[in-house]
Amino acid sequence: MDFFEYRHHELYCEQVPVARLCEEFGTPLYVYSHATLVDHYRKLDVAFEEVDHLICFSVKSNSNLAVIRAMVQEGSGADVVSGGELFRVLKTDIDPSKIVFAGVGKTRAEIEQALQADILMFNVESMPEAIAINQIAGEMGKVARIAFRVNPDVDPHTHRHITTGKKGNKFGIDIHMAAKIFQEAADLPYLNVCGVHAHIGSQITEVEPYHAALQRLLPLIEELRTSGVNITDLNIGGGLGIIYQDEQPQMAHDFAKAVLPYVKRSGCRLLLEPGRFITGNAGILLARVIYVKQTETKNFVIVDAAMNDLVRPSFYEAYHKIKPILIQNDDQFIADVVGPICESGDFLAKDRMLHSVQQGEYLAMFSAGAYGFVMASNYNSRPRAAEVLVKRDQYALVRERETYEDLIRGETISPALEL
Ligand code: LLP
Repeated sequence: MDFFEYRHHELYCEQVPVARLCEEFGTPLYVYSHATLVDHYRKLDVAFEEVDHLICFSVKSNSNLAVIRAMVQEGSGADVVSGGELFRVLKTDIDPSKIVFAGVGKTRAEIEQALQADILMFNVESMPEAIAINQIAGEMGKVARIAFRVNPDVDPHTHRHITTGKKGNKFGIDIHMAAKIFQEAADLPYLNVCGVHAHIGSQITEVEPYHAALQRLLPLIEELRTSGVNITDLNIGGGLGIIYQDEQPQMAHDFAKAVLPYVKRSGCRLLLEPGRFITGNAGILLARVIYVKQTETKNFVIVDAAMNDLVRPSFYEAYHKIKPILIQNDDQFIADVVGPICESGDFLAKDRMLHSVQQGEYLAMFSAGAYGFVMASNYNSRPRAAEVLVKRDQYALVRERETYEDLIRGETISPALEL
């Protein structure tokens, strides 16, 4: 469900015609729908209302301050994976006791920053990391709350680049060694080992992998309790899939129906870290057609957005629906939609049946709210796009388009190198 719809052949985001945003802010432009963000958050929140739970919005999917703020206003916590993400979320007046911090390579500076902020807990990915956190917490006169991220070795049936809970992935601790590692960490004086965490992958459309993971995590929790490690929090990560093309993902209530019995049995508070489920269909990327080029073998629609703006098609062969924002007729043709970057891998769609489009028209790439802007780069010295958030008939520029000056900020031609 989202709040982007065509009215009389013209695309609207909530009450705002998207064409107005293109004219006012230019392209490439990311546009997010507040109502969609909130709707997705609430669907998940309601689905789990029977149990004590905390949704920690996974900021990596979309870390615009205004988007995080919208989630915080709903009561959400945050899942962060870097000092930079922690810095961002703290700018939104979030309650720090709702922040969890994951990632395999937390540095001393990041650990200090998180302890200083008094976050809810670290999702720890190895014993050396637990030892480092214990050491730093001790120096700061604090006790750090931690969960270990367990790798349950289940196949989430998703793209290989976004599979994270199988043997051989760099994430978490091996489920077979977990009990021993938890106990070792529980003996450290400045750690409070209170959680079990698992995130098995992203864009997971079936419920079965979660069953498989939880079937392995529950006995672990019981074993730990028996040996005196009091686990109070069960974090099942994120990963819920969405519709890009014709997927049939699990709905929030199907997911909850599968997960709730385990949570009740465990007696734990449930933590969730959804990203894409909340932001994916809440954003579109708008681009303008620069040229339509015909070759002997193919048609190319060359637009002003490129792989630096939305890398998912190039990186994961991901499908994003593409439509003109004004549908003028029913004529269709097959084309590649490509950007101006000097790489053959720079495409937004390949061999796609499209509405016929002319130079100067605007196109919308749908389901671009997650892992869109956040994965943008300045490759080919292209300034990153602007971002707009729409709420009913109101809208605001929530990130300015970068300028050429932004591109060279911090760079110098040092006199020392001119000698
Ligand atoms: N928790 C942890 C520990 C994660 O690593 C992730 C995502 C999430 C939560 C949120 O997952 P979600 O609910 O969004 O599936 N760039 C890729 C996706 C990478 C996901 C990385 N981890 C893409 O564009 O598909």
